[in-house]
Amino acid sequence: MKKILITGGAGFIGSHVVRQFVLTYPDYQIINLDKLTYAGNLENLKDLEDAPNYSFVKGDICDAGFMNDLFLKHSFDGVIHLAAESHVDRSITNPMAFVETNVTGTVTLLNAFRAHCNIGQAIFYHISTDEVYGELSNEGKFTEETPYSPNSPYSASKAASDHFVRAYHETYGLNIKLSNCSNNYGSHHFPEKLIPLMINNILNGKPLPVYGKGENVRDWLYVEDHAKAIDLIYHQGRNGQTYNIGGNNEWKNLDLVKLLCQQMDQKIGNPEGTSIKTISYVTDRAGHDFRYAIDSSKLMNELGWKPSVTFEQGLSKTIDWYLTNKPWLDNVTSGAYQTYYDAMYK
Ligand code: NAD
Ligand code: TYD
Repeated sequence: MKKILITGGAGFIGSHVVRQFVLTYPDYQIINLDKLTYAGNLENLKDLEDAPNYSFVKGDICDAGFMNDLFLKHSFDGVIHLAAESHVDRSITNPMAFVETNVTGTVTLLNAFRAHCNIGQAIFYHISTDEVYGELSNEGKFTEETPYSPNSPYSASKAASDHFVRAYHETYGLNIKLSNCSNNYGSHHFPEKLIPLMINNILNGKPLPVYGKGENVRDWLYVEDHAKAIDLIYHQGRNGQTYNIGGNNEWKNLDLVKLLCQQMDQKIGNPEGTSIKTISYVTDRAGHDFRYAIDSSKLMNELGWKPSVTFEQGLSKTIDWYLTNKPWLDNVTSGAYQTYYDAMYK
């Protein structure tokens, strides 16, 4: 039986990756290690609690002693590393937390892997972001050859962790894979990010805070399609290689918020045009990257991946999930979230 460690499996993307692996590979043992920060939530994995091939361990990837014990106890065949601080706005307020988890945490994990896993056999797969490439103007797309040029403390920390993973491949011969993905959306997305924040605010009749003029562009990918890409790359991606993953689905923020308003008004029975009136232009994010767009042709041509849902389908499924899981939303937006929101959007 193969044993795979997934870090950050209680977060947004991690919970979808855990589900993808637990359900697709009953003969794998999946161990989910997560610190359960504000972004980690075991409710995201409630349906898997009793799965015989799944277990959860609470712990911090920065804790070298703990990581060593975990790697000693289990002989992992592979690690899929998603644990991270992931929100750009929080990285502007508190960069050090991003250095700690994303850089020190990744290196601590690499050290435990190097000390205890079968080098040259076991796989270390790092999940990263397209934001390491910096920003684009109206033209072009990021490829795997685009030079790194991160602009935010978040993307700088992810770029550093990518570099360490490659350095451990070159220096110590670790079997590694990397993927750099565009913006994800879908169920269980913490409402500090654009799409779930807007859904939550529309539901609560609160203003919809669009940064600057809303002209920045993001390439959106349905999270389950990301999880399927990770499955493919883990199993069939080449050692030492990077794969870009994107939705080929670019939206200006303002157009996306308007589409969300329309779909939400229809679904909750608001008169047409109700939510659009609550759009509020707020101070732009410092160092706001203008545009991200991914060229996924390497992944598509080499491994045959393609997104399975259109944006309209994915967005509709996402909104439906939030509408039927109001208690999840109410739970994660109580307490500390309110303090964050007030400080951020005052
Ligand atoms: P998230 O913030 O929803 O989840 C992060 C998870 O990591 C949480 O469960 C949290 O508890 C856990 N965690 C944080 N610090 C930890 C630590 N020190 N030890 C153990 N666990 C810890 O993030 P996400 O959006 O699901 O992103 C997951 C990964 O994918 C990140 O590495 C992120 O950089 C990358 N990524 C995200 C996107 C996106 O659109 N969200 C796109 C591309 C890549
Ligand atoms: P976000 O979901 O934070 O992802 P990222 O910054 O990693 O791309 O933001 C997506 C886009 O939406 C980004 O251009 C910033 C913008 N944005 C807003 O306009 N208002 C908001 O309240 C948030 C959270 C984001």
